Amino acid sequence: MFDLTSLDFLWGVSSSAYQIEGAWNADGKGPSIWDNFTHTPGSNVKGNATGDIACDSYNQLDADLNMLRALKVKAYRFSISWSRIFPTGRNSSINRHGVDYYNRLINGLVASNISPMVTLFHWDLPQALQDIGGWENPSLIELFNSYADFCFQTFGDRVKFWMTFNEPTNQAWLGYGSGDFPPKVKDPGWGPYRIGHAIIKAHARVYHTYDEKYRREQKGVISLSLSAHWAEPKSPEIPRDVEAADRMLQFSLGWFAHPIFRNGDYPDAMKWKVGNRSELQHLATSRLPSFTEEEKRYIRATADVFCLNTYSSRIVQHKTPRLNPPSYEDDQETTKEEDPSWPSTAINRAAPWGTRRLLNWIKEEYGDIPIYITENGVGLTNPKVEDTDRIFYHKTYINEALKAYRLDGVDLRGYSAWSLMDNFEWLNGYTVKFGLYHVDFNNTNRPRTARASARYYTEVITNNGIHLPRQLVEVPALHLLPPFIFFEGGVEALSSLRTLGRVSAVS
Ligand code: FCB
Repeated sequence: MFDLTSLDFLWGVSSSAYQIEGAWNADGKGPSIWDNFTHTPGSNVKGNATGDIACDSYNQLDADLNMLRALKVKAYRFSISWSRIFPTGRNSSINRHGVDYYNRLINGLVASNISPMVTLFHWDLPQALQDIGGWENPSLIELFNSYADFCFQTFGDRVKFWMTFNEPTNQAWLGYGSGDFPPKVKDPGWGPYRIGHAIIKAHARVYHTYDEKYRREQKGVISLSLSAHWAEPKSPEIPRDVEAADRMLQFSLGWFAHPIFRNGDYPDAMKWKVGNRSELQHLATSRLPSFTEEEKRYIRATADVFCLNTYSSRIVQHKTPRLNPPSYEDDQETTKEEDPSWPSTAINRAAPWGTRRLLNWIKEEYGDIPIYITENGVGLTNPKVEDTDRIFYHKTYINEALKAYRLDGVDLRGYSAWSLMDNFEWLNGYTVKFGLYHVDFNNTNRPRTARASARYYTEVITNNGIHLPRQLVEVPALHLLPPFIFFEGGVEALSSLRTLGRVSAVS
């Protein structure tokens, strides 16, 4: 079982409820905002895809557990569908079938020696709660707390790793800024900040519940998964670009991490930029809300470990955008681009070296906190079973993450690949595939087939890192930016680095 003090590096795979479970209205489950969104024409999901069946994981528990055992992962990160266990979002309506499903899943994991890592909220808000205003309604904080409390009470004897929210930056921007995701609120200047504010309070509330009611007995950890691309200044010798790159990180990661891991308050860069621009926009107050002193005390230090989702990097420059209409994107005063020389994937370009820098940035900003990479992976359009490009992606990203751990002293404790299997990839429907396992969505049984990357990942897990052959091989940068250096092997001079660490890393 998961033990924070253990020296085991937690190799895992990730998924989320709406993306895999299907059974959208089975056995008393209530609809979520993603059910309603995908059932509404014009929601812009590729191929009008829905998660109605998805990977059918609700009915394919054994198949999922078999894959996890075959992969030899030590952890499985999945999310609980709030409306599957509370169809109306409130704990006055507990759906025992839903609770049973998660109990069976968790028991199956524990019996296989796989630690469950559970996300409480991966974007699929119960529709019944959206109907009362969703995260805009202050009562959501207590409703989320009572849902979380129920989960701790019911599953916490076996679940020792909790995440309250998944990627609140994306939730807030896509759901309430651009309006691309449900609940489709297009309010780019105010919406994301308003919702982010509520999420931070809800997170803190749930953290304290765990801390006060459950921690002593259950001895788990609780955090939230935050997402960011690494931000590389376009011209490192131009201070404005360096500042802009840092600002991009503050607006993405720092937005939630600074209050939670630092001082209960937003990063200075956000307060200054949104505040100044609001003033220039002749607004009476900043569009970024503020916390009271009491709230700050309540919010600070409400995470035990740092959970990071990361997929790519951006090259960043300062820019002075238009003032109106107000927008979270423009408030950052940056331009962001990918280098066309980075290998392309279906969604982002791969820039593995950014991961090492991002991990170091987190250590600099938030101190020497244990870090778990809770998502990292590659979306491909038509991957073959022999998906060598995915193997390359994971190998190079894991390599960089382990460099941060072994060479830079970042306290990295785990790595979780996104994803266990192909699934409903939000607006991309089923057109973009992230799975170590292929899923045949044309077959009602949704058979799963291991890709070559699944076997490769098992090898990494079995070796507890990337195998170190005798000879040092330097692959000349493979068109990636410096400081990408790919060392396949270890040499005598570096062997001292191979002390008793948690993992064997390439050096
Ligand atoms: C992340 C999401 C996850 C998945 C990956 C590809 O932003 O958290 O659900 O879709 O992207």
